[in-house]
Amino acid sequence: MGRFGRGASPPGFMLQLLLVALSVAALTSTAQAAKAQLVPDFYKSSCPRAETLISSAVNSALNRQPGAAAGILRMFFHDCFVHGCDASVLIDAPGSERSHPANTGLHGYDVIDAAKAAVEKHCPGVVSCADILAVATQLSVKKLSGGRITYKVPLGRRDGRVSSQADVNGKLPRETASVADLKTMFAANGLSTEDMVVLSGAHSVGTTGCDRIQNRLTANPPDATLDTSYAAVLKKQCPPGAGTGGGHECHWEWECQEKANGRVNLDLATPNRLDEVYYKNLQANKGLLTSDQNLQADAETRPMVAANTAFRSFGPNFARAMVKMGNIIYLSGTEGEIRLSCSCFN
Ligand code: HEM
Repeated sequence: MGRFGRGASPPGFMLQLLLVALSVAALTSTAQAAKAQLVPDFYKSSCPRAETLISSAVNSALNRQPGAAAGILRMFFHDCFVHGCDASVLIDAPGSERSHPANTGLHGYDVIDAAKAAVEKHCPGVVSCADILAVATQLSVKKLSGGRITYKVPLGRRDGRVSSQADVNGKLPRETASVADLKTMFAANGLSTEDMVVLSGAHSVGTTGCDRIQNRLTANPPDATLDTSYAAVLKKQCPPGAGTGGGHECHWEWECQEKANGRVNLDLATPNRLDEVYYKNLQANKGLLTSDQNLQADAETRPMVAANTAFRSFGPNFARAMVKMGNIIYLSGTEGEIRLSCSCFN
């Protein structure tokens, strides 16, 4: 008998190894091909009232604190761009995604917790936090657009088991990003340049800290893509080093710092309405963030800005792009877990 034992001569052993490797590869690709599709009625039999329960919890929270809608919309984007839409941003632990500076100022976590508590009472351990966040985002979009932007949310996502601050590095765009950088980041998530321009329309609502625009206000020579009368208004709202207050409540050091820095509306004209005016602002050099105004300055994205200046285009475009963003790699089937509490792993 040889060194490799009966029936396992070196060539035979190698053949067996090869066969094992091939079958693992085949299984993996079958698993990928068989990845469950997200579907709107995913909880039809396992938790028939899931969407009704989420809606009533989210809507009543948004009625109490309307500002949370913009926070949730941003939160969904930040979740989906890191490990896909797997609720990894919701984990509240030292060193988790939530603690990354790019997620500074994210708010609305309590709304997601309230919705989760409502569904857990009726169907414990069935509805994922990733799906709750997706539905809460759709409800926020509906509310922010005055009921004009609605879409069905495909469901069936599972919750991730990883949430690491380090994984956020380089995945979320900064306010000073060039169009080339934005294109690269969105393309990495399977989103086109048009999707990127359309999703940027979310900046038609919400606010930013004054520190994010000081680069534009103090530029020397002055930023040629910033309307001078708008710049004068902004300088009053955001004097260097002085705070104007406002924004959200402050519980953490960074939040208090933000509050001290002052906040300013992302859309000067219709700050609380998700609409096409954001694009008209860009055409008038009245976009707030450098990354926003860059969309008008760039020859490739300028026509895409123009194409969204009518609500009849922007509304359906935004709805489509939100569904597409919600499809960025998700966990399904038996992958990940269904968290019992959205802010911690099981
Ligand atoms: C295109 C690249 C993007 C960049 C560079 C960017 C950057 C930013 C920055 C710097 C803020 C202000 C944060 C603060 O000071 O608190 C902000 C706010 C916001 N972003 Fe974006 N963002 C981008 C895309 C998106 C997308 C795709 C969405 C959602 C579809 C989104 C939704 C929001 C919302 C709703 C706010 C306001 C949040 C609030 O008022 O709390 N952003 N973004």
